[in-house]
Amino acid sequence: MNVLIIGGGGREHAIAWKIAQSPLAGKIYCSPGNPGMKNVEAVPLTDLNELAEFASSHDIGLTMVGPEATLCAGIADIFRAKGLRIVGPDKVAAQLEGSKSFAKEFMRRHGLPTADAAVFTDEASALAYLKKKGAPIVVKADGLAAGKGVVVAMTEQEAADAIHACFDGAFGAAGASVLLEECLFGEEASIIALCDGKTIIPLASSQDHKRAYDGDTGPNTGGMGAYSPAPVVTPELWKTIDQQILAPFLKGVQEDKLDFRGIIYAGLMVTDKGPKVLEFNVRFGDPETQAILTRLKSDLLEALVAVADGCLAEVKLEWYDEPSVCVVLASNGYPGHYEKGKPISGLDDAEKTGAVVFHAGTKLADGQIVTNGGRVLGVTARGKDIAAAVQNAYKAVACISWEGMQYRKDIAHRALERR
Ligand code: AMP
Ligand code: GLY
Repeated sequence: MNVLIIGGGGREHAIAWKIAQSPLAGKIYCSPGNPGMKNVEAVPLTDLNELAEFASSHDIGLTMVGPEATLCAGIADIFRAKGLRIVGPDKVAAQLEGSKSFAKEFMRRHGLPTADAAVFTDEASALAYLKKKGAPIVVKADGLAAGKGVVVAMTEQEAADAIHACFDGAFGAAGASVLLEECLFGEEASIIALCDGKTIIPLASSQDHKRAYDGDTGPNTGGMGAYSPAPVVTPELWKTIDQQILAPFLKGVQEDKLDFRGIIYAGLMVTDKGPKVLEFNVRFGDPETQAILTRLKSDLLEALVAVADGCLAEVKLEWYDEPSVCVVLASNGYPGHYEKGKPISGLDDAEKTGAVVFHAGTKLADGQIVTNGGRVLGVTARGKDIAAAVQNAYKAVACISWEGMQYRKDIAHRALERR
């Protein structure tokens, strides 16, 4: 079966890497792909109708979508209208990520635990509410803001500034509506699940490191590293997550008649009153996917076909017990301004240690791999326990260098502290 993957980051590299191991896989295409992907043909198309044409003319048996923006733009609707098999919610269901107010209403309607929130479409009402509630408070642009639309404000001034930025157009249309949300405290975990609208199967738990610097300090990023499993998700907590989050999610999808044949990612805060949903994503997480898929024993392609075909009930996933750790190597200055085009050395040596190096912001220039983005590589390794996985990942990281390479030295510190 030929496969088309949409996206070009570390997440898509991990998906391509895992699908390539499937005996079912024929030719693998990726749009746009990245230079780290082996035996994958790059497809230089972005228009959704052209991609659907490509899928028809290249006998693509399954299309897997990485990024949320493509799902929110309605790629699944276009492909399915042409009878093409695709993994991803349709445009309406993708609003679970595309609109935080849509997601909040969904959670309220179906009884999923989440932070209290109010939605505003003008600055004066938002500021009045802020005055009443005080800080800490969380300010969220309603729409997609590439991970930058959330401010956890510790002071009223910070919140007021964030509200002003949204209504002032900092996030374009995504900030025309703003959520003010109760600030929750606890440890975060990511629960990512396959869902075909009838069955929901969670993948291994994981935890992401969103802050740029060690000790979870500095600005929010797309994710500086991840590990799986997340020990905060104990067997007991899994039961609660099943009962209070995954089952009501599935029931909600059915009651609201949403076409959800895709990946649901619940970002959780584990509070002292139990797990609460901070956000939904309607796709795999990045870099969680790199950590999760290196632990998956089963055939990902087979499972994704089942998601698209609505026969997920027949799938059983098996996992390696060994934990995994993904360390993101980033450009100096990320998530702010950074330079591109720095030659990267040591990639082969890093892989010789047994780690997998997933590319994200890289490019091939005159036969040399150079940096081409903020998050450049995701160095991922398993180990017999979490300490060994951390050691293996950093041993591989030590092989790699470029001018200005930056990374966190403390990925998985919470898991290490729990031992
Ligand atoms: P989101 O894009 O909604 O996942 O938010 C990004 C990050 O902001 C989350 O990973 C949390 O660290 C933080 N966050 C979001 N909502 C809340 C909340 N209600 N309370 C505390 N922190 C939050
Ligand atoms: N790592 C967080 C995300 O993918 O949204």
